[in-house]
Amino acid sequence: PVALAACTSDKTDTTAVKPSDSAAPARSDGFTVVGTVKDLDTAGFIQDKNFAAGPLLVIHDATDKSKLVAVNSTCTHKGCTVEWKKDAKDFACPCHGSQFKANGSVAKGPASKPLATFIVKTEGDSVLVKSA
Ligand code: FES
Repeated sequence: PVALAACTSDKTDTTAVKPSDSAAPARSDGFTVVGTVKDLDTAGFIQDKNFAAGPLLVIHDATDKSKLVAVNSTCTHKGCTVEWKKDAKDFACPCHGSQFKANGSVAKGPASKPLATFIVKTEGDSVLVKSA
């Protein structure tokens, strides 16, 4: 008897469906690692537009370098994304010129509400954030 090898060349796509690498899973205490202190020191900020609770910007507190501030970078005027201006030490919105202080409060309109903030802390070299 001749054994016929079945030619099963049906091309099953074995490409694994990768979970979105945008959102690191939150830990059981609700905190998510968003970067390292080194990243923060090097770039002056950590940005994660895909953070589960909303687009995130983490900076050093302008008045106390040992503290961190994490804000939702969505401008409270009409929803553009604010940018951290390291030299001016404020968040600036490119759309209509609103400015926010390092703690998220309004420095200049037209926005009238402060940026939303997140709870932020460090553990060793990791920067962790949790929605407030
Ligand atoms: Fe930011 Fe208008 S959307 S100032």
